[in-house]
Amino acid sequence: MSDKRPVTVIGLGPMGQAMAGAYLDAGHEVTVWNRTPSRADALVERGAVRAGTAEEALRANELVILSLTDYEAMYAVLEPAAHALRGRVVVNLSSDTPEKTRAGARWITGHGGVHLTGGVTVPPSGIGRPESSTFYSGPGGAFEAHRATLEVLTSADYRGEDPGLAALYYQIGMVMFWTSMLSYWQAIALADANGLKAADILPHATQTMADMPGFQEFYAARIDAGDHTGDVDRLAMGLASVEHVLHTNADAGVDTALPAAVVDLFRRAMDAGHAGDSFSSIVELMKKK
Ligand SMILES: NC(=O)c1ccc[n+]([C@@H]2O[C@H](COP(=O)([O-])OP(=O)(O)OC[C@H]3O[C@@H](n4cnc5c(N)ncnc54)[C@H](OP(=O)(O)O)[C@@H]3O)[C@@H](O)[C@H]2O)c1
Repeated sequence: MSDKRPVTVIGLGPMGQAMAGAYLDAGHEVTVWNRTPSRADALVERGAVRAGTAEEALRANELVILSLTDYEAMYAVLEPAAHALRGRVVVNLSSDTPEKTRAGARWITGHGGVHLTGGVTVPPSGIGRPESSTFYSGPGGAFEAHRATLEVLTSADYRGEDPGLAALYYQIGMVMFWTSMLSYWQAIALADANGLKAADILPHATQTMADMPGFQEFYAARIDAGDHTGDVDRLAMGLASVEHVLHTNADAGVDTALPAAVVDLFRRAMDAGHAGDSFSSIVELMKKK
């Protein structure tokens, strides 16, 4: 099938605007709808068709991209137009939990539509770039039928039929993204308290992050094998180190919530008897009991 099939985009926050723009740039006919109509103005100037209602937007095209804040927003937008879902393929690129995406998929399916879940791993500036990637899950046939059109946005990484899978992979990335970025804000706060600007520590900060894949690769196989041998690092050494981090931040007068939470995890692992094990043993505390 042609990869120039017409597309509806519902939800024109920064992400939806970038998506509708990417389809226009690629020569697709694009119908748009947003709760706040003015957010569609620039796209309409570029050639998008403004739907008067969400129902009109649904009826315009088989392929409907949703880019809303969360799944609650999906119900708010689509419930009044639910009778127009029959025969639509709704690609929901709004973030939410795996459980909420599964419930949302059941709701769309119950109204005669097809639901594909998506988890976009890039900011709006990454839309329209093949080096960017989005997780998808849901009915494989529908995904394959629309893969080429979806790949106008980013490359597509299909994870399987379970509608929760794309959201799960997305959330796995986000737990790392948010905590890693908070560690960076902490480093900047500590630097700032000592008269250093973010720019001053940038090479050190980027090098520290760039070293992370080596640690991930080293520990992944060991963790899967249940091997927390303390041959290259010991938790007791790690606790001393994270206490130095906590005290350095406290001495500098910056917020200590984040380093204190780290120390707490190390102490709990010590109390659980892991002093001589690797700090990877902390993952055993974190796992579902
Ligand atoms: N921005 C990013 O960097 C990024 C990266 C990856 C994934 N994502 C995900 O992509 C999705 C969209 O991102 P975004 O930055 O564009 O989000 P956003 O700024 O929250 O915009 C979302 C859209 O949702 C609409 N909306 C929210 N609540 C609504 C409701 N109750 N009824 C009707 N419409 C409602 C907003 O309409 P109004 O214009 O009327 O307010 C807006 O069009 C989110 O789930 C986000 O987590 C974003």
